[in-house]
Amino acid sequence: MSQDDASLEARLEEQEAFEPPESFVEQANITDPGIYDEFEENWPASWERAADLLSWEEAYDTVLEDGDAPFYEWFTGGKLNASYNCLDRHVEDGAGDSTAIEWEGELGETRTYSYAELLDEVEDFAATLRDLGVEEDDVVTLYMPMIPELPIAMLACARIGAPHSVVFAGFSADALATRMNSAESEYLVTCDGYYRRGDALDHLSKTNEGLEGVDHGVSDVVVVDRLGDDGEHDLTDNQHDYDDLVADHEGSSVEPVSRDAEDMLFLMYTSGTTGQPKGVKHTTGGYLAYTAWTSHAVLDIEAEDTYWCSADIGWITGHSYIVYGPMALGTTTVMYEGTPDYPDKDRLWEIVEKNEVDIFYTAPTAIRAFMKWGSEYPDKHDLSSLRLLGTVGEPINPRAWKWYYKHIGDEECPIVDTWWQTETGGMMITTLPGINIMKPGSAGPPLPGIDARVVDAQGEEVDAGQAGYVTVDNPWPGMLRTLYNNDERFIDEYWQEYSDEEADEWVYFPEDGAKIDDDGYITILGRVDDVINVSGHRLGTMEIESAVVGVEGIAEAAVVGGEHEVKGEAVYVYAISEDGYEPNDDLEERVIDGVLDSIGPIAKPEEVIFTPELPKTRSGKIMRRLLEDIASGNDLGNTSTLRNPDVVDDIAEQVSSD
Ligand code: WTA
Repeated sequence: MSQDDASLEARLEEQEAFEPPESFVEQANITDPGIYDEFEENWPASWERAADLLSWEEAYDTVLEDGDAPFYEWFTGGKLNASYNCLDRHVEDGAGDSTAIEWEGELGETRTYSYAELLDEVEDFAATLRDLGVEEDDVVTLYMPMIPELPIAMLACARIGAPHSVVFAGFSADALATRMNSAESEYLVTCDGYYRRGDALDHLSKTNEGLEGVDHGVSDVVVVDRLGDDGEHDLTDNQHDYDDLVADHEGSSVEPVSRDAEDMLFLMYTSGTTGQPKGVKHTTGGYLAYTAWTSHAVLDIEAEDTYWCSADIGWITGHSYIVYGPMALGTTTVMYEGTPDYPDKDRLWEIVEKNEVDIFYTAPTAIRAFMKWGSEYPDKHDLSSLRLLGTVGEPINPRAWKWYYKHIGDEECPIVDTWWQTETGGMMITTLPGINIMKPGSAGPPLPGIDARVVDAQGEEVDAGQAGYVTVDNPWPGMLRTLYNNDERFIDEYWQEYSDEEADEWVYFPEDGAKIDDDGYITILGRVDDVINVSGHRLGTMEIESAVVGVEGIAEAAVVGGEHEVKGEAVYVYAISEDGYEPNDDLEERVIDGVLDSIGPIAKPEEVIFTPELPKTRSGKIMRRLLEDIASGNDLGNTSTLRNPDVVDDIAEQVSSD
């Protein structure tokens, strides 16, 4: 530990609560603590506050329609267009010259789009999509990395009322095919490749491999030329070069299509308990109002700000808080293509300094990596432009929180630790930075209007300090409306556990464990289902398991998350080889390749442990909890109730000797 870290520790270690800095409070968007009561007393009408941040083409008649719960509707009867709200209205208001996107490629090149320029690009691409035959309500798949054409394509889809389904570029060919099949998506926008640590990655071959697995006809594929001379670019008959198509549509004017508030804005696939990813459906009115509202209230974003969320747009965080929320507010949003340690470990701080970033939002896994690299990297840069910091995606441990507070925020920026999910559309549990004290490690109280509780297995609220489960008792505008083409699974996954169907009382269950303290602050403990969180990325252990058992020579497998210093959790595979197959390095490699092929590098197993048996209860259930403890190096306690206690020692020995 450096001297610096040691003194930080001594001073901050004991401190459990932090007041919001005065300098921040003075200028904050929300400073009146009365907002909590206001939302409660006027609920659900209080949500008009969120809707008021948008421009509606036609006013809504009803704030919340709950006649067919849990298929709630928000702002029913209202009409609007998301791309109009994120672009045209800012230009009409005279802000056409202000910067919308400040993009930086990994190699250092930059591109700046003003709101007026971005609108032009979006109209040109919207005209292009239409010309290809894309109609309102057709799902367009976007399989792209962090390049400006991704938000352009999203907003172009929104403009013509075609929902997008963005597939994270790091996902495998198989994952692309699964998602296109599920959404019956016939249009794809992709690119030839992108840069990682200076190397050009071939994305088009992966795309083509994925397309082979699509069950229906794919009409057209648009390919962005990101790599220029660094990439091969052979296109098939239905593949078109993005620039060529757009050149033919330059200067197009495309009227934003009038969408019902409840019309689908996009689909986003996420992992759940079973092997099949779930297509989370978000709507135009409720989602956009909710992301705009939380960007305003929690991230404190104003049009004049330069704001940077370092997530990838391929995940919900990037949808809500790189694209829709910030752009609805007309701010400058920074996008960075590459990795945080290329060419050196101060890359992010260099970007903050250069762009004079006001607000920075990232994941705890990144903060743990920064901490490990040392404070000399941020110290090299002037970070004094920052006024607010945020985290999302996984629990942040108090030590990482304090490091972030001190070394990035210089003890002058509040930190918002925001708990939410793909399904919630936006933030749910977090402090309001101009109002609440901060307690490192605890996300904070539920946002105004959000009825989140911590309950026991019976649904009774737990006492302060006791562990329980998060539930949300009332609906909110940003919530998912259903799982695409699967209303039944929507009910099963989220509403079964705690609702009283007969009494028509619906309770949303997010599958997270938590504790609550005397002040109502909620500390999230992590998932209670078979989902693990690797570097803030949500992965289903069942998806990984099915990839592993699909490998020739594997008879049975169990996949669990084990604690990891930087990643939060890492993937551990316990596998039994089939008779006639040696559990050797070759088989291990094939298991790893199987996971990479079916999901992608983010799911790469930390360890593959071959074992003749898996620990099972007497009734034959695999003891996952025990496997997690082994992977995490925890004390295993009493294992004598297992059917096969001996196997535990063998496995534990293998893990610790690796
Ligand atoms: C976890 C990401 C603790 C949680 C926006 C949730 C968190 C899952 C936090 C959703 C936080 C998210 N503290 N845990 N501040 N934020 N999580 O769908 O387990 O990719 O259920 O959405 O991430 O992951 P998802």
